Amino acid sequence: MTIERTLSIVKPDAVARNLVGKIYDRFETNGLRVVAARMKHLSRAEAEGFYAVHRGKPFFDSLVEFMTSGPVMIQVLEGENAILKNRELMGATDPQKAAAGTLRADFASSIEANAVHGSDSPENAAIEIAWFFPQSEVYSR
Ligand code: PPS
Repeated sequence: MTIERTLSIVKPDAVARNLVGKIYDRFETNGLRVVAARMKHLSRAEAEGFYAVHRGKPFFDSLVEFMTSGPVMIQVLEGENAILKNRELMGATDPQKAAAGTLRADFASSIEANAVHGSDSPENAAIEIAWFFPQSEVYSR
């Protein structure tokens, strides 16, 4: 059994639509535990730093603009195969391609306003968790 941690963000569109509780319920009923959480209105520098890997892509400026348009809910999820499990719960980046029953199929409105972010690998999970949370603020089971 591989217990992992992953970084999850409820994006500004979903926070604005009052969907935080519904999204947390999906995590918890699917074996993921919230072990750290913080609501934050990202600055431009924070969003640019977090998405630095996408700098230079055509959507970069728009993505940063969107992610700084309102508060986000940031959490660390812990559980068995948490990284893949969270990606499965989220569904495809483009909600039009997301499988039925996934968070993006149910709650996202576009490839940009797509409700949630989740780390895509153990390496990125470690980097992204450290970006937002000191070790002392992650409360493992
Ligand atoms: S890539 O290029 O394959 O790495 O991109 P992808 O992993 O699909 O998406 C990376 C993040 O960028 C967002 N994204 C976009 N935003 C605005 N416009 C367009 N066209 C667009 N395409 C991708 C997407 O929501 C991803 O955000 P995160 O927070 O990583 O899920």
